[in-house]
Amino acid sequence: MKVAFFDAKPYDIPSFEKYGKENSIEFKFFETKLGEDTAGLASGYDGVCVFVNDTVNAAVLDKLYSMGVKFVVLRCAGYNNVDVEHAFKKVHVAHVPGYSPYAVAEHAMALLLTSVRRIHKAYIRTKDFNFSLSGLTGFDLHGKTVGVVGTGKIGRVFIDICRGFGMNVIAYDKFPAEGSDINYVSLDELLRSSDIISFHCPLTDETRHMINSESIKTLKRGVMLINTSRGEIIDSEALLEGIKNRRIGGACLDVYDEESDIFFKDFSGHIVSDDTLARLISMPNVIVTSHQAFLTEEALDNIAKTTCENIIELCSEGACKNELCYRCDNIEGCRVERCGKCF
Ligand code: NAI
Repeated sequence: MKVAFFDAKPYDIPSFEKYGKENSIEFKFFETKLGEDTAGLASGYDGVCVFVNDTVNAAVLDKLYSMGVKFVVLRCAGYNNVDVEHAFKKVHVAHVPGYSPYAVAEHAMALLLTSVRRIHKAYIRTKDFNFSLSGLTGFDLHGKTVGVVGTGKIGRVFIDICRGFGMNVIAYDKFPAEGSDINYVSLDELLRSSDIISFHCPLTDETRHMINSESIKTLKRGVMLINTSRGEIIDSEALLEGIKNRRIGGACLDVYDEESDIFFKDFSGHIVSDDTLARLISMPNVIVTSHQAFLTEEALDNIAKTTCENIIELCSEGACKNELCYRCDNIEGCRVERCGKCF
């Protein structure tokens, strides 16, 4: 089996080489992202392996299909960058649904703690032997209300972590978990009454720019926003405005809506052309990490293992439990047992 691996990073390669070897899958690692200009590189391969910022739109899928590529395997959970409907009857698509919800939820809490206890500032100060505490006053998380948007795998781990801190947790999910002990409220109420809001929902037409100039007006003054989901959930221009007019008290961002040409690359010593990102980063109450919430040893190992299992299943059975099929009841986890092979 030959698989073209796009947007390869040094941290991806060891685990994929290990599980590739065990499963007789030969990965060819390309540093470039998959897109309309680069799809031709996949010629002669059985499938392609992609990440969050590769483009797998209709044109790319048509090109892959015309070259005989049989599957697209995402080495991530989110799949907003793939036109799953267009892929139907052409190219199988599978993802890695839950490689480590702990990695992402713990990163969300790490960002929050860093921000509210000013750890990022203290670290730089003490490195310079500046032991002054001026300007480092934080606040207790205990007793604060945290609103969690999306109570799937990551959201639930985040809820457990917050409960451990003695926080009052409220949540909104379009599909609330039945019989759970989660205190669900409407999205409006969550936005109105949370001191901290953390996003753990997928990017869809409904969630795109859920935080915008209008919804920001309804937020509690001084609210902290944490986004480890997808950048486009927050309209960054509106966020910047909300920070400038002090309605938003802080933002912890692991994702950014225009991240695809910036994140994962080293721009130190260069001029960053995205003014909104540059301005956000310049704010004392904004912390940005470069889509790194998933990056733990456990997660990388699970991602490579599950991706290889997906490839083997797709090639041997023509379908797999992690297939993304828009025709099935639940796009995630094709109901293969009910409707047979997806196509
Ligand atoms: P999941 O599928 O287990 O949970 C998503 C939850 O969001 C579900 O409960 C679903 O019902 C809910 N949801 C769907 N539409 C909604 C809407 N319109 N409003 C509110 N809730 C809605 O997914 P999981 O594994 O918890 O991941 C969540 C997201 O985290 C992914 O979609 C991905 O975008 C992001 N992610 C980010 C990573 C990073 O490194 N920063 C790594 C992994 C995932």
